[in-house]
Amino acid sequence: MSDQKIPLAAVLGAPVSHSKSPLLHSFWLRRYGLPGHYIPIHVEQADLQTVIRTLPLMGFIGCNVTIPHKESVLDLADTVTDRAALIGAANMLTFRPDGKISADNTDGYGFIENLRHGAPDWSPRDGPAALFGAGGAARAIITALIDAGVPEIRLTNRTRTRSDALRKEFGARITIYDWVQAGNTLDGATTVINTTSLGMEGKGEFRVPMDGLSPDALVTDIVYTPLQTQFLQRAAEMGCRTVDGLGMLLHQAVPAFERWFGERPEVDEETRQVVLGG
Ligand code: ATR
Repeated sequence: MSDQKIPLAAVLGAPVSHSKSPLLHSFWLRRYGLPGHYIPIHVEQADLQTVIRTLPLMGFIGCNVTIPHKESVLDLADTVTDRAALIGAANMLTFRPDGKISADNTDGYGFIENLRHGAPDWSPRDGPAALFGAGGAARAIITALIDAGVPEIRLTNRTRTRSDALRKEFGARITIYDWVQAGNTLDGATTVINTTSLGMEGKGEFRVPMDGLSPDALVTDIVYTPLQTQFLQRAAEMGCRTVDGLGMLLHQAVPAFERWFGERPEVDEETRQVVLGG
């Protein structure tokens, strides 16, 4: 019997049972006929360091990281990519053969790729982006938009201190608006993004006066349960192109799968259906 190691990968979180990542990576392993396993592991904060030090000894080549560990894993990594450092969080760790741990964040990459696939003629350089929310997802998306050359980000968040802090950190391309003026950010915006958790099943709806929205704008939502949020439906009724949030989840997984299992996976309709059905 061959004793060649079968690559193992995981997603660490608490809770972790809702994560779609095991379904997605397992599907790609089957699709490309690759050896490997990808499993969810529930890890409490107090055990994080022990688990991360132990995984490579057990044959794990990397792991994704989800809530609440995305920030704290940075302290456990030997190297951190520029984008993960800028975002202040990582969503993937790679356990290298030399024993070092490298941390990266592909959430912003997943966001941009999702829009590029969903609307091939869209460019973040086309005009201002109106962005709602100032949490962890917003940080990743702001970093990616600035890196991709967006001229201006109009930022609105319910808690003003959080958006002010992002302005201070990310600089002059961010303009702050009050939550009650959210609709004013839409005038002339070419990209419109909901990064709040509003619109998700069980939460309230995300509502913003949409009179100023141009039908040329591309509108997207990071919420993907439901896929067609009311916000996206209203934008579509106004003639806008819309891209749902599921693709961000799928595309952020591509660099990790390629690095760990050696094949660049395709995100297509079958991939979407597998994840939706799971
Ligand atoms: P994530 O890491 O997924 O972005 P988060 O850090 O909890 O999660 O951020 C959630 C975002 O949704 C925040 O911008 C939050 O606004 P606050 O900073 O004011 O909390 C926003 N959000 C959540 N519930 C909201 C609500 N009921 N009304 C307005 N904004 C809300």
